[in-house]
Amino acid sequence: MKLPNSSKSLWIATEKSRAFPALKSDISVDVAIVGGGITGLTAATLLKRAGLSVAVLEAGRVAAGVSGYTTAHLTEATDRSYLDLIKDFGEDGARLAAGSCRAALLRIAGFVRDEGIDCDFMKVPAFQYTEDPEMIPMFEAERTAAASIGVKVTLTHNVPLPFATAGALRFDNQAQFHPRRYLVPLALAIPGEGSYVFEQTRVVDIEDGEPCRLVTETGIVTARDVIVATHAPFNNVVLQTKIASYRSYVLALHLNENQTPPAGLFWDTETPYHYIRSQVTDDGPLLVLGGCDHKTGQEKDTLGRFQALLDFASSRFSVKSVAYRWSAQVIEPVDGLPFIGLDTPSRHVYVSSGYSGTGMTFGTLAAMINSDLILGRKNPYDNIYDPGRFKPKASIVDFVKENVDFPLHLVTDRMKGAEATSLSDLAKGEGKIVEIAGEKTAVFRDERGLLHAVSPVCTHLGCLVGFNNAEKTWDCPCHGSRFDKDGKVLNGPALAPLESRRDEAVIRDQPPRIARQVVAKG
Ligand code: FES
Repeated sequence: MKLPNSSKSLWIATEKSRAFPALKSDISVDVAIVGGGITGLTAATLLKRAGLSVAVLEAGRVAAGVSGYTTAHLTEATDRSYLDLIKDFGEDGARLAAGSCRAALLRIAGFVRDEGIDCDFMKVPAFQYTEDPEMIPMFEAERTAAASIGVKVTLTHNVPLPFATAGALRFDNQAQFHPRRYLVPLALAIPGEGSYVFEQTRVVDIEDGEPCRLVTETGIVTARDVIVATHAPFNNVVLQTKIASYRSYVLALHLNENQTPPAGLFWDTETPYHYIRSQVTDDGPLLVLGGCDHKTGQEKDTLGRFQALLDFASSRFSVKSVAYRWSAQVIEPVDGLPFIGLDTPSRHVYVSSGYSGTGMTFGTLAAMINSDLILGRKNPYDNIYDPGRFKPKASIVDFVKENVDFPLHLVTDRMKGAEATSLSDLAKGEGKIVEIAGEKTAVFRDERGLLHAVSPVCTHLGCLVGFNNAEKTWDCPCHGSRFDKDGKVLNGPALAPLESRRDEAVIRDQPPRIARQVVAKG
């Protein structure tokens, strides 16, 4: 079965963009928000409703970055089990974590209702299921743990999937929506009365102070408070050691007429796990299936992950065709819960990151907590998400495992030879590290045969990027920064683009006689 050539999410394909202007001059607002995804747009909405002026500064297009590539499971079930949350955060902490996710779901439902947002929002049950009978005792223990912190979960053998399962934990009153149909109306309601949404406006520096100054390529924004809502925080190197970036893969599939995509949210107990939902479109219902995660920049054959996902789907559903394929960046926190709050020692810069696989829920929660902190309101959940926390018992294993990548790749990748010594080794659609004039160069040859060449040295902390053959991007194995074929930043923490080496590569790609002449002329 054929996979689509290009990577485009169902949400991007079925909800058109609305253009917002780029920043063209210096402005001043109460709160500047860096990032126009769910965290930034929700915070802007809450703060503007509270009477403050806001400016959302988005480097690309709003709701088209990580928030445009989610699968939008709206669930109070955290990626880390309740058993582990209780062990690591105590019963009170776990109860607060569960309550905060429920509050975020209610916040989304409230916006949908109050603003009349037509975004296919619907309440659905959620099922963590297993195909392995040996997992059932673990489910029983998890149900007991959930009950002890007031979360209603039932153990059921009635799982509405078309293949055999051993049972599931069922969470009622969860939800799903079309993320862009939710976020674009929120964005459209922000501009006016001294508030703004700017696109194509990359913040390259934040100067903390009273007021704070945000430096962009086209103007300065002055603000009393700043929210960094960029998924990966670019302004806090300590926080970067407590999170790790992963890629997750998604297919949207047409099923044969004899089968309807199941209603509900589903995820299994595999490592890495698979997740399932459905979505109605003008072309009929689609099964949306994700999984096959790996650490960003550490998989050579990313296209193979889509094939593995398709194999998983085909062995369990009656798959007719693949409508869309895409991959997404997921940020895992080392102790299982996101980091949200004041970026101390700053008194005015607020951060959030580490949403795991529930970015829509935690992104909304981050906006609620940070906007309350800015407004001086008490938020019942701010303590457990404190970005300065370090819980050795909960995080030491993952902390060491995730942080070994930086020194390891920094040293070992530089000692490796280039993947090719000649540009003629590079087929159309291929990207490789090629040695050009004694220097390693990241070169991609597009489908027209044109070369795109950049330095492979990541502008964050200097690791070497590798080619992602599914997305045609350059991904860094150390902290997950990603760059397009011409070096533009797609995912942080890197801020600056990869240095262009196009001219050098194009010259070397000429027939040998012409290349020699051009090089000789200097
Ligand atoms: Fe940190 Fe590349 S993302 S070195």
